Amino acid sequence: MSTTPKSEVMEEQTLPLRTPREESAGEVAAERAHGPRRILVLGATSGIAEACIRLWANRGDALYLVARNADKLAVVAADARTRGASHIGTAVANLDDTAGHAEVLAHAINSLGGLDVAFLALGVLGEQPEAEKNFAAADQILHTNFVAPVSLLTWLANYTAQRHAGTLAVLSSVAGERGRKSNYVYGSSKAGLTAFVDGLRNRIDRDGVRVMTIKPGPVKTAMTEGMKGSAKFADVEAVAASLVKAIDRGDDVVYVPGIWRVIMAVIRAVPERVFKKMNL
Ligand SMILES: NC(=O)c1ccc[n+]([C@@H]2O[C@H](COP(=O)([O-])OP(=O)(O)OC[C@H]3O[C@@H](n4cnc5c(N)ncnc54)[C@H](OP(=O)(O)O)[C@@H]3O)[C@@H](O)[C@H]2O)c1
Repeated sequence: MSTTPKSEVMEEQTLPLRTPREESAGEVAAERAHGPRRILVLGATSGIAEACIRLWANRGDALYLVARNADKLAVVAADARTRGASHIGTAVANLDDTAGHAEVLAHAINSLGGLDVAFLALGVLGEQPEAEKNFAAADQILHTNFVAPVSLLTWLANYTAQRHAGTLAVLSSVAGERGRKSNYVYGSSKAGLTAFVDGLRNRIDRDGVRVMTIKPGPVKTAMTEGMKGSAKFADVEAVAASLVKAIDRGDDVVYVPGIWRVIMAVIRAVPERVFKKMNL
């Protein structure tokens, strides 16, 4: 898999690091009962994540933001601070570097003083034509969209399951529901992620952890800029408003906008002998 620079934690945290087992049940219950939500955003400069961060900051939630681009991250963090986030911690990290995940996540939880929500927004669309010719390009898409989230979620699942609390909200995609010629490498990375997240929910929902598979249809962000038909894609602010509510509820599987639940049911129902001749 890809080699990448090591993670760099921007803000030194002062709280002592404790393992989940060292936190008492009483502390966990008290944390849940009141106060702003402690939200970790992985891939915080994503268009969808930024719109969610604005809403979380407006209501005074505590945020820890992780992104690979320091300049963009500083802008997002400054905006969240101005809006009224009750806490801001940040780390610059290339999340392709799975070896650095444990350190980044431990710092985040230490900075927040616990964790209510982890929101995984990192992802790359990649270049499908390039990925058809060159395995390294396909490998990069699979690594960022599937391998890196699996590494992050493995750590986060064990942390939250031990505490019997938390929500893991993961941005997968409707593209993972059926492979098609125009983006099957990206689609397969999201199909893998969807299956992983669904299975994780089956494992730790009973431990009191909400695990959410989020499947956006096309949304107007940097990822889709300049695409054919992009003017008609979903508005990112509306998508974020739906997601913030869904995350508060801890829904299992979220299609956003909701119409994509119906569209994908139709697309999945098309017989393969017809589907394979379609230009999608
Ligand atoms: N927009 C859509 O139509 C759509 C539809 C379905 C699903 N999704 C999914 O939703 C998520 C957010 O996408 P978006 O639309 O908000 O697109 P976006 O604005 O392009 O966001 C993608 C984010 O992932 C970050 N990222 C990529 N590789 C990373 C790495 N190695 N380490 C750390 N961060 C990394 C990018 O960082 P940089 O800012 O540094 O590039 C960027 O902030 C993605 O998982 C995407 O697949 C999007």
